[in-house]
Amino acid sequence: MSESTSTSASHFSADDRYALSMDAADPLRSYRERFHIPVGPDGKPVIYFCGNSLGLQPKATREMVTGELDDWATMGVEGHFEGRRPWYPYHEQFREIGARLVGGRPGEVVMMNSLTVNLHLLMVSFYRPTAGRYKILIDWPAFPSDIYAVKSQIECHGYDANDAFVTARPREGEQTVRTEDVEALLEREGSKIALVLFAGVNYFTGQFYDIPRITAAAQKQGCVVGWDLAHAAGNVPLSLHDWNVDFAAWCTYKYLNSGPGAVAGAFVHERHGRDTTLPRFAGWWGNDPAKRFKMHLQPEFTPRGGGRMADFQPPHSGDGPGAGVASDFRRGRHVGAAGQVGAVDGVFGIPHRAHSQQAVRDHHAARAVGARVPAFDSRA
Ligand SMILES: Cc1ncc(COP(=O)(O)O)c(C=O)c1O
Repeated sequence: MSESTSTSASHFSADDRYALSMDAADPLRSYRERFHIPVGPDGKPVIYFCGNSLGLQPKATREMVTGELDDWATMGVEGHFEGRRPWYPYHEQFREIGARLVGGRPGEVVMMNSLTVNLHLLMVSFYRPTAGRYKILIDWPAFPSDIYAVKSQIECHGYDANDAFVTARPREGEQTVRTEDVEALLEREGSKIALVLFAGVNYFTGQFYDIPRITAAAQKQGCVVGWDLAHAAGNVPLSLHDWNVDFAAWCTYKYLNSGPGAVAGAFVHERHGRDTTLPRFAGWWGNDPAKRFKMHLQPEFTPRGGGRMADFQPPHSGDGPGAGVASDFRRGRHVGAAGQVGAVDGVFGIPHRAHSQQAVRDHHAARAVGARVPAFDSRA
């Protein structure tokens, strides 16, 4: 927490005057104008405290989504390459800005799927239980779908979730989990823990965990460490690469205002990206781009190496027109590094999984594709 933030917090007062003075001093206040704000029964804009569930719609979204639909209507399959924001390489367009949001290196981050799907895919690679080390440690209270995902992974490997599912909880009478308690738990039980999967910011308590300290403590015990950043990405400053995090996943419809159902993100540290022996579920987008669309001429999967392993999973199949997110994403600013709450404007997507299926099928039928990935414009 920066000095200015902690000073403000110590002067906190639950009245309008305090809130308005904080608004007036907020360097991000002009961003408010860039969003649609729902109107309440009194006809006034509501005070929206639900950005942790679904971020508000950026005003730029409608025009950009319409542009994507227009490209699809007028170009069909050619929109993959000729559209104003071509769909085929759209994950490439996110590579740098997506990495910057979470403090990763380009190539460590890929935008794909949904958060829970990414967690599952990442656990396929990073939850490798053995008879002696098979437990998963999760912070408590954990988000229900994370509990389901983790328990189902445990059971999928033939272990008993009643035994293998371990939680780090707040002390009696306290709301948040003490870092030293997590460290003590890891000292005690770490040798049996295969994976530590915490939330960067807890959805219920708002606790922003000490990610580097917990990551280091767990890795010292030989555990792999992943972070669910649903409530952290776009909200707090993150340095996943420097913190040596093994993997992470997040959604973009909360603090990144991408819209319901929009594409999520995943991070894999580059030291794992070099490890092509890690087990993975394979798909086109994890394949060597030069061979990706050679169809029957290239039946063998060639995993992408280097730091680009984060692309190892099957892609956002059907995310086509949602690719419109890319160019406005570039305009976004994440000011978390300056100690402010992060803000990215104009990042959007649409519930696009259904409507691009035909485009993808047509595309497949129409042409085998050579690599044609435009240089990414990193200007913010
Ligand atoms: C902490 C956390 N984990 C997981 C999820 C599930 O995300 P999704 O349904 O996008 O996969 C959410 C959704 O709100 C969440 O807040």
